[in-house]
Amino acid sequence: MIRPHGTILIDSLYVEDSRVRADRLEEAKTLPKLLINSSAAANLVMLGAGYFSPLKGFMDKADAISVAKELHTRQGLFWPIPILNLVQDATDLQHGDRIALCDPNIKHNPVIAIQDITTVETLTEDELSEIVQNIYRTSDSDHPGVETLLSLGRMIVAGPVEVLSYSYFETDFPDTFRTARQIREQIEANDWSKVVAFQTRNPMHRAHEELCKMALDSLSADGLLIHMLLGKLKPGDIPADVRDAAIRKMVADYFPNDTVMVAGYGFDMLYAGPREAILHAIFRQNAGCTHLIVGRDHAGVGGYYGPFDAQTIFDDEVPSGALNIEIFRADHTAYSKKLQKVVMMRDAPDHNIDDFVILSGTRVREMLSSGKPLPPEFARPEVAEILMRYYKGV
Ligand code: ADX
Repeated sequence: MIRPHGTILIDSLYVEDSRVRADRLEEAKTLPKLLINSSAAANLVMLGAGYFSPLKGFMDKADAISVAKELHTRQGLFWPIPILNLVQDATDLQHGDRIALCDPNIKHNPVIAIQDITTVETLTEDELSEIVQNIYRTSDSDHPGVETLLSLGRMIVAGPVEVLSYSYFETDFPDTFRTARQIREQIEANDWSKVVAFQTRNPMHRAHEELCKMALDSLSADGLLIHMLLGKLKPGDIPADVRDAAIRKMVADYFPNDTVMVAGYGFDMLYAGPREAILHAIFRQNAGCTHLIVGRDHAGVGGYYGPFDAQTIFDDEVPSGALNIEIFRADHTAYSKKLQKVVMMRDAPDHNIDDFVILSGTRVREMLSSGKPLPPEFARPEVAEILMRYYKGV
């Protein structure tokens, strides 16, 4: 099985033993409380679930700047995006404090983790701008990821954590939320050695289905992990429960038995394009996958990134040996009217753009909202039906 990022899987940050967890929750009642933001809570869920191994907690300012600028921590760990507990006002906190972190995404804000604070530092405006620019390649506050990062505050509360809950992910998505260890165990139980991961935050249409099948085929892989984001998205994106139902229907109807594992992870979408693609690769390696599909505009939004920037970053900015997982590079994939099947555009050099069935996300939403069926070349009817039902109810 592929080794995790940084050799051993650190997945003991979540306190598994229910008695110890109850003790920690009891202790938390006596600790100062800090209501954290959703991004920090999502970081905790990823840390607890082993996806962010070998990190053991929130980064400090020097690591945040080093990761944003140079893609590694001061100790030399390859990492693409700072993992932070950013706070508006942390003036009453200091080095050595042990605090209870409260979950902003659950009613009454229960404790989600305990943190031992190593440092409390403030980012200057310039430092924050530089971090934003390095991660997002833009400082435009219309970019949803930039907008979020700029809104979180400038005080960095660093230090190791013990995670006490997987927030709403394990209660709302009991059949889908899985930790990195659970996925590794399932891969082992399936006796898969070559495993391709498909990252997704959208329902899957014909192009996505075929893309996965092409990757499975050309890599002669044993199995596919469809690994969906379960956290927050920008307004207008389709909620996780609807995507989950649509994806499961597609897998049941259109994939051979026992070749696909459907699972989800508890993280908010960053829309950081190329940098997020690297993070995606790291946490799929931690989950035991040998390959990650990176297609067109992976983790992108609007026109902020070139369509294949999330692929070229693996050539330009990932030092050799930094990752063990490999990238399966997909070209723009769409249904060809000439060939009457879904193809990658690079495999149909004689086509022009009108030879393909291409629908923008906006057009798809319009059609679904007005009850117009999606063309079967674009979407499986069973999948379209689930989406249409959702749009009728919105
Ligand atoms: S993402 O933000 O999670 O990347 P999405 O769920 O839309 O968004 O895409 C999942 C994966 O499929 C990404 O690797 C993306 O690049 C790829 N992808 C989506 N649509 C296409 C397409 N038509 N052609 C090629 N790759 C695609």
